[in-house]
Order: sequence, then structure tokens, then C-alpha cells
Amino acid sequence: MKDLIGLEHLSGAQIEHILETARPMKSLFTRSIKKVPVLRGKTVALVFFEASTRTRSSFELAAKRLSADTLNLAMSTSSVTKGESLLDTMKTFEAMKVDFMVLRHSSSGATELVGRDTKAHVINAGDGSHEHPTQGLLDIFTILEKKKRVDGLNVVIVGDILHSRVARSNFWGLAKLGAHITVCGPATLIPKGIEDVFGRKVRVCYKMEEALKDADVINVLRLQRERQEGDFFPSLREYTELYGLNSERLRLAKPDCLVLHPGPMNRGIEISSEVADGPRSMILEQVTNGIAIRMAVLYLFSGPNGFPANISAAKKGKKSLLEIGN
Ligand code: CP
Repeated sequence: MKDLIGLEHLSGAQIEHILETARPMKSLFTRSIKKVPVLRGKTVALVFFEASTRTRSSFELAAKRLSADTLNLAMSTSSVTKGESLLDTMKTFEAMKVDFMVLRHSSSGATELVGRDTKAHVINAGDGSHEHPTQGLLDIFTILEKKKRVDGLNVVIVGDILHSRVARSNFWGLAKLGAHITVCGPATLIPKGIEDVFGRKVRVCYKMEEALKDADVINVLRLQRERQEGDFFPSLREYTELYGLNSERLRLAKPDCLVLHPGPMNRGIEISSEVADGPRSMILEQVTNGIAIRMAVLYLFSGPNGFPANISAAKKGKKSLLEIGN
């Protein structure tokens, strides 16, 4: 597998392998020198056609902590503003012999399109409302760290499911690892037929009070106003009243329920500040874990044949990262 397009294309064992690899990566963060030389001589191009704070900076940090060189394309000052196409932009990077293209684009399928046409490894950093695989992985890593398992957990995903690439990557990853998934939001923001799409039943609730009962994890999604054409609910005030996560609603979940949000947050709309900054919130932990996951992804896809299909064979004979770092 040359490219990371989505968690749909990974098996449960491959997802687990990435999560296991991220663990020693995270342990590097407490060292005085947070770097290992495993990608020395490689170049990672960060090509973001949409705005980003977390994904872009954490991919850059991840590449640097693995000793790779990074190349950042700032859209506003690039030749994209003169009308250069996505494929021509990516071919230009290929001519510069980059090893990785980390791509964010507003069109679903953009990373797959580019991946077919380049020798570089293409990593999806979010394509339209299709997938955001490293976000899905870091969400699951965060759950696993705190809960020690994913299998059998009740995970509730709340909000704008229709436009959310984060939701899709969460569905694929969580379903493959055996979680029970509930989605909750206005009917207009829940795709039709979602119940059977992800290989495991997804429960659909239109009432927060019903959805949150027995929840182990609540993943609150941002309202994707930039992707919404038309009105999906009467007003923001009404949306908050019906679907905003506040302390009172959080009490309906299990006492040790975790709260996730991929960021950026609309504070006071889909989540109250009290919850976002409260003891159950994993939001900043997710940011830290994002670096570890992206290090693991860059490392595992860097081999000449890309990400291994046969995980048990790949594990044999592979030096541990901490060993490499010493
Ligand atoms: N979660 C996420 O993708 O955040 P950014 O848009 O800041 O990268």
C-alpha cells in the first residue's frame, strides 16, 4: 500500500499496527532530544488547499521528529492563485523528488486521484467530506490510551455527520476494532442509510438524551458551515439547545465517559466551555497524540513497498524505534 487514503482501506490488524507504532513515538516526547533518524534524507511536502492548524503543524513536527526535511506550500502565495491545477502542482513536487505528499483538499477523492499519478507516498490530511484518516487514528489512539480497549465500547458521535470526514474515518476505524457506534444529530445532518454502511450496525438517535445513555466516549463534531449549502437547521441557538454538549447532558453518560472533539471548536455552539475545558475533555491530549500517530504513519509508509499488507511478517526483524533512536 503506497498511500494512506482512508481507514476504509486498512484492515483491523493494520490499524492496530499503526496504533502500536505510535506508542513508542509518543514516549519520545518526554526525552530531551525528541528526534530519531529514521527518515533522514526523506522529504515531506505539506500541501494544504484548505486551512489547518493542528493537522498541518503536527505533520510538520512529526516529519521533523523523524529527521525528514519538510516543504510547506502556502496556498495564498503559490501558483495555485494563478490557476495552476491540483495535478500540475503535485507533479511539480514530484519533479522535486519529494518522498511524501501530505495533501488536504476540499474535493472528496483528491488524494486518491493524486496518488494514482505519482510515485511519492500520498497521505490524506482530509479530502472534502470523504475521510481524515490520521484524525480517526488519533481519536482511537486517545480512546485506547485511556480505556485500554475499543472493542465493546459505546462511542457516540454527535453533530454534523453528513459533512464530516472525521466521522467517516472514525466509523471505519471504530467498526473494524469492534466499538458500538451511535450517531446523533438533526435528521438533515445524518446521511440516509448510514445504519448499514460501515460493516457494523450504526445506531441512529435524534435525541441527545437517548444517545448519551451509557456512553463511554462522546466525539463532538464541529458544524462544518463551510460545506453546508442551505439551511440544515432553523438556527444556531436551536442547534445548541438540542445537540450542544454541556455539563448537564454529560451527566447522562457513564461517569468516566471521555469527551473528544477534533477541533477547531465552536465554543458555546456544539460544546460548552465548561465541558471543553473540563476533566473529561481529551481535546488537548488528542493534539499531542496527533503527532505520535503522524510519526507512525510516515514511518510505516516510508518503506519501498509502502505500508505492509502482512503485519505479522512486517513486525519480524523490524528494529524498535527506541533502539534506532539510541
Ligand atoms: N482536526 C483538524 O483537522 O484540525 P485542523 O483543521 O486545525 O487541521
